[in-house]
Amino acid sequence: MKILVVGGGGREHAITTALSRNPDVHLYSVMAKTNPGIAALAREVFLAKETRVKEITDFAITSGIDYAVIGPEAPLEAGLTDSLESRDIACIGPVRAAARLETDKGFCRTMMEKHGIAGCPRHRIFAAWEDACDFIDAYDGDLAIKPIGLTGGKGVRIMGEHLDRDGAKEYVRSLGGDVVLEERLIGEEFTLQAFVDGSHLVPMPLVQDHKRAFEGDVGPNTGGMGSYSMADHRLPFVSARDYDQALTIMKDAVTSMYHEGFPYRGILYGQFMNTAEGPKVIEFNARFGDPEAMNVLSLLSSDFTEIICRMVEGSLSASSVTFEQKASVCKYIVPEGYPEAPRSGEPLGIGDTGAALRYYANVVEQDGRLYTQTSRTLAFVGLGDTLEEAERVAEAAAAAVRGAVRHRRDIGTADLLQQRIDHMRELR
Ligand code: AMP
Ligand code: GLY
Repeated sequence: MKILVVGGGGREHAITTALSRNPDVHLYSVMAKTNPGIAALAREVFLAKETRVKEITDFAITSGIDYAVIGPEAPLEAGLTDSLESRDIACIGPVRAAARLETDKGFCRTMMEKHGIAGCPRHRIFAAWEDACDFIDAYDGDLAIKPIGLTGGKGVRIMGEHLDRDGAKEYVRSLGGDVVLEERLIGEEFTLQAFVDGSHLVPMPLVQDHKRAFEGDVGPNTGGMGSYSMADHRLPFVSARDYDQALTIMKDAVTSMYHEGFPYRGILYGQFMNTAEGPKVIEFNARFGDPEAMNVLSLLSSDFTEIICRMVEGSLSASSVTFEQKASVCKYIVPEGYPEAPRSGEPLGIGDTGAALRYYANVVEQDGRLYTQTSRTLAFVGLGDTLEEAERVAEAAAAAVRGAVRHRRDIGTADLLQQRIDHMRELR
């Protein structure tokens, strides 16, 4: 069976690695720049920007691809799934109209409201920045300011955190319109990802990502510095009731897309804020999270290829998806200065990384040496019976990298987890 993986980041290296466990799969890759980890697993690599829909479709047809797994959101928005499926190549990744759940934050909120889906924060959608500024002036409290379209996870600014009221208006003006303003949610974030076949949804273990650049959750937002999951596949600050509510919200979103006439097939990613009143939807993504993909795919113990076949057939069931009962910790190595002024082209030395799994991201290999680029470099995942054990493995590996890079040592530690638990207790 020939499977094409689209994308060249850490998430796609994790996808490729999980698929490569099946010896009957021949892997093909489309990526903008050579990811050395993916290149080592692929039979053929087509170097092209992931949004070059026509060229990628031609490559897939010429290569005789059976299935395509689309990693990032940009090709979904560009209609890659629509194009490949029009040529009978089944895709894991929704068609453009269904991917709007991620690519159009206004659509997402309107859809949630129309179908009465729980967990929708109070919000307003604006086309003119002047109206948004008036709203900010009149609003009593803090707001989250979100550009409508894709921003690579870096477009959201929060009043009271990144901006004051004047700064908020200035930011809205700089966006020039098309903005969603919503109530600032207070709580603890968690990620629930699921496989979806158009009507059935099978959840994956809960994960918590860390967006802030520096230890102690300070500094600018990044694509995500690392993430962890627990051996029981839940998080200690998410109650059974919170979990059930989050899962219901995800299932309702899938049902609503079906009724809208855009059945959703692919990975559905729910980013939730667990608030005093229960989980609220920060956003949906139409793909795996990065880094969250590295947690769940490192734990996946059933055959990913079979899951894909079932998603395409519409016969997905919980019994076909299993994960190891282990904790996982993922730590990203990033260039010094990331995200604002990353030092690229810096050589890396990698010492003994022990039992950690290694996923390459934005890194180049030249003459056997690795060099940083401008985005996240590579990630290590530790697995263990306890979070402590998983953290130790990931941390030892991350600490074994030498060069102009850094990572967050606090991700997955008992201290940080306790802070989350205490925060949630305080709120309730
Ligand atoms: P997003 O790009 O939607 O993932 O948002 C980036 C980050 O902004 C999230 O991880 C949250 O930390 C934060 N955020 C987004 N929306 C809200 C909100 N309504 N209230 C508080 N924080 C938010
Ligand atoms: N980890 C957040 C994202 O992938 O959007």
